[in-house]
Amino acid sequence: MLRKYQRIVFAVYLIGAGIFLAACDAPESVSTAQLASVDIDARVDSLIADMTLAEKIGQMTQAEITGLKDPDDVANYFLGSVLSGGGADPAAGNDVNSWTEAYEDLQRRSLQTRLAIPILYGVDAVHGHNNVLGAVIFPHNIGLGATRNADLVEEIARITAVEVRATGINWNFAPCVCVARDIRWGRTYEAFSEEPELAAELGAAAVRGYQTSDLSDPLAVLASAKHYVGDGGTAFGTGDFENAPLDQGDMQVSEEELREIHLPPFYSVIEAGTGTIMPSYSSWNGEKLHGHEYLLTTVLKEEMGYEGFLISDYNAIQQVHSDFKTAVGMSINAGVDMAMMPNDYIEFIEALTELVEEGTVSEERIDDAVRRILRVKFQMGLMDDDAPLMADRSLLERFGSDEHREVARRAVRESLVLLKNEAGALPLSKDIARIHVAGKSADDIGNQSGGWTIEWQGASGEVTTGGTTILEAIRRAVGADTEVTFSLDGNGAEGADAVIVVIGETPYAEGSGDTDDLTLDAEDIAAVEAAHASGAPVITILISGRPMILGETLDRSDAFIAAWLPGTEGQGVADVIFGDYAPTGKLSFTWPRSMDQVPLTVGADDYDPLFEWGYGLSF
Ligand code: GLC
Repeated sequence: MLRKYQRIVFAVYLIGAGIFLAACDAPESVSTAQLASVDIDARVDSLIADMTLAEKIGQMTQAEITGLKDPDDVANYFLGSVLSGGGADPAAGNDVNSWTEAYEDLQRRSLQTRLAIPILYGVDAVHGHNNVLGAVIFPHNIGLGATRNADLVEEIARITAVEVRATGINWNFAPCVCVARDIRWGRTYEAFSEEPELAAELGAAAVRGYQTSDLSDPLAVLASAKHYVGDGGTAFGTGDFENAPLDQGDMQVSEEELREIHLPPFYSVIEAGTGTIMPSYSSWNGEKLHGHEYLLTTVLKEEMGYEGFLISDYNAIQQVHSDFKTAVGMSINAGVDMAMMPNDYIEFIEALTELVEEGTVSEERIDDAVRRILRVKFQMGLMDDDAPLMADRSLLERFGSDEHREVARRAVRESLVLLKNEAGALPLSKDIARIHVAGKSADDIGNQSGGWTIEWQGASGEVTTGGTTILEAIRRAVGADTEVTFSLDGNGAEGADAVIVVIGETPYAEGSGDTDDLTLDAEDIAAVEAAHASGAPVITILISGRPMILGETLDRSDAFIAAWLPGTEGQGVADVIFGDYAPTGKLSFTWPRSMDQVPLTVGADDYDPLFEWGYGLSF
């Protein structure tokens, strides 16, 4: 039901529309979906007809909670949305109640406006509601790619949506459907694969999980497929993120390759119904995607028929041109519909207002953008009197629940890729006399969760949320008579019946993870050497956001597991080590022998990797 004010306006509109239709050859019968669509389009058009330019441009503006000059700016400027970027926590704290109260406060303020159009509140819940303490942290996408399990990916997205909704929040800047073609990129782990088909299949599954089949479902969250298009195909040395060599760089490929490699996931997520798409910071042959009218409008909106809205990336519009107002005009005219302006939201509103008044940006373009945004809000049921705008407190019992953790544990199991297993090293018996555990990531939730965990960049140690480390999981799994000892550096393993060494990368996000050297660090190499020197079988577990250069460490290991970034449920690793479950994961990225081979993807002429895409042992 519309609010009273809107009902009057809408009734007038319908009478007019009814007279018009009666004069035409109205279709004899229309489907419910078509009626619903007509209904929403009619409601959107009647609302737009009543909006001022300030109200329209406000809907096109998204500020960050930590960037608001005044929380009432949500109403003062008729903002369409607020976000929390990685680590942008509510002032009151990082627990689920602080998040919920912060969201509800801003939503209530948004309803104080004349038209009372609710805000969309966006977060990056890219592997669980990962900003919030106590949330279940799932494996990052690279691990989910190794599962090849679309149903599981959909189930994880569904659970993530429930945990996000438990805080009231209704928009998730996910899934990332990038096709990462160079593992030196810091965002490789956000990709499902180097192969477009797998990225497309799992990306679509994630959209279905987040949104369900009905965006107005109170447990649905709006998805944002990202980053359109080719963020994973940039050329090394062209990076535009601080000193990063790849991130936000330039994709220097033909249109044929762009369409063959990087576009397929966007066909799939559009078919899955993603309500929004986020353009990429990166460029194509020197032209920033955020100002690329051909790719944003001609290809995505016209050729591919995309009817949702485009949300810019975080301050990405400012990269389009050195002059802010020019950049705003270029990006909006290119097809960006809502601007992610964490701090410069007032400047954006002022600039766009001037651009419309001077005719640089047409009223038609503004109305098209607002129509796309409002259509999504109507589809989400946000405009209805009984809209679920406040958090459903009954969801709190499901937030971080054991049931959710069991699904995450299963995902960890299915994401593990067994690269080597000689002399029957695995599975281990739970009753052997002594297991020595070593390595910097054996007892570290932060390392096993990776970036986008509590903090944007993530962090080593216990600073993050609860969960089970791999060492804790091993201790829980073994029999009462089995001794488990631990040392960071691998020393002290003498006499053990097996040594498990957990090594790899420490957390990073985006361009901070770009590198030209994926060789294991000296600490890790030394830990495996010390384990090997003990004479006991060595099981090495790699915690990383991508394949790494293993060198002799692989030779020193009797068994070797790629565990990616498994998240909080380390039990899943123990489940496989002790044979409760056989490993089933298959590489979703090619594993190179040396840095000389990088970048190396399936189909390359000189394709001679250490482990091929799709490789994975079992027992
Ligand atoms: C970041 C990322 C994007 C994210 C956005 C909001 O810079 O590029 O993936 O959704 O900003 O946090």
